[in-house]
Amino acid sequence: MTGEHGTGGERIEPGATDARYTTHPPSASSPAIDESTQEPVLAVRRTSGRDREAHTAPTGVAPAESRVSRRILVLGATSGIAEACCRIWAERGDSLFLVARNADRLAAVAADLHTRGAAYVGTSVVNLDDTAAHPELLAHAINSLAGLDVAFLPLGILGDQAEAERHFSHAAEILQTNFTSVVSLLTWLANYCAQRHAGTLAVLSSVAGDRGRKSNYVYGASKAGVTAFLAGLRNRIDREGVRVLTIKPGPVRTSMTAAMKGSAKFADVGAVAGTIVKSIDGTGDVLYVPGKWRVIMAVVRAIPERMFKKMNL
Ligand SMILES: NC(=O)c1ccc[n+]([C@@H]2O[C@H](COP(=O)([O-])OP(=O)(O)OC[C@H]3O[C@@H](n4cnc5c(N)ncnc54)[C@H](OP(=O)(O)O)[C@@H]3O)[C@@H](O)[C@H]2O)c1
Repeated sequence: MTGEHGTGGERIEPGATDARYTTHPPSASSPAIDESTQEPVLAVRRTSGRDREAHTAPTGVAPAESRVSRRILVLGATSGIAEACCRIWAERGDSLFLVARNADRLAAVAADLHTRGAAYVGTSVVNLDDTAAHPELLAHAINSLAGLDVAFLPLGILGDQAEAERHFSHAAEILQTNFTSVVSLLTWLANYCAQRHAGTLAVLSSVAGDRGRKSNYVYGASKAGVTAFLAGLRNRIDREGVRVLTIKPGPVRTSMTAAMKGSAKFADVGAVAGTIVKSIDGTGDVLYVPGKWRVIMAVVRAIPERMFKKMNL
């Protein structure tokens, strides 16, 4: 498989000869960004056995899995929702580059996806709050994938609402991870995709961003910011051929919500991931998942403020 833009000459991605997943931070000896253009220097990735099988079916006979393997970058890859999506992508034979801050957990997720059949699994251990590291990280990831079809952004923290009310420093942490870091990543990725008139940016916002509630309005505000940013970004780059998908889950059973009251009744993460993957394959702009949340939030948004302010939500 060749890179779509071999601007910096051919390079073979690290580990391609004897391993299908690699952990390698960006390094000065392997420049990921072209100094003159600030563009990623795309690698040429060797075709895996699985890729070859998918592309060499006899003429006129549709192979069982005829879809082309896609290159998917996952930012916050140890997320429960992300892991469930990645399992589907791995079983389809897609190529994945995973970024997370917990090295042990990331290695376990990568090994599992490798076993499940991903064409390629690359990883980087990075705290995504470090926005200064984003350009080199993203160039390196795209270099390793030899291009980009989908960028999936599940990173996020719930935070502690009561703590955020007491101390602005905690509110700032929530806003940093959920909003500022996401905006930083999307700014670079949107420009990369817009220049190529291709790509899908799929971002996990939340129904919590549809209306501020006293129980989690700092988290909700961070997600409202993401939703508004994505709407504006879509308005800017949809015409460039770049798809921006806003994903708004209702409550889902993951580690983020495990401690919440009633979490046993929250949506199943496997079902939610199936809907998200299908939506990324599709053409929509905003996904509520499960779908009933589109109706629930329309009702919640319609409640007059004079009533809403007295409610315990
Ligand atoms: N679960 C729900 O009910 C629900 C509902 C609506 C929206 N969402 C959104 O969906 C997304 C995924 O949530 P989830 O349920 O899968 O929760 P999760 O399992 O807690 O996943 C969140 C992920 O973000 C990662 N992350 C947080 N800060 C990071 C940082 N600075 N650098 C790198 N990674 C970082 C976390 O890494 P660590 O493991 O290292 O902390 C974790 O893997 C989040 O954006 C969340 O807000 C979830």
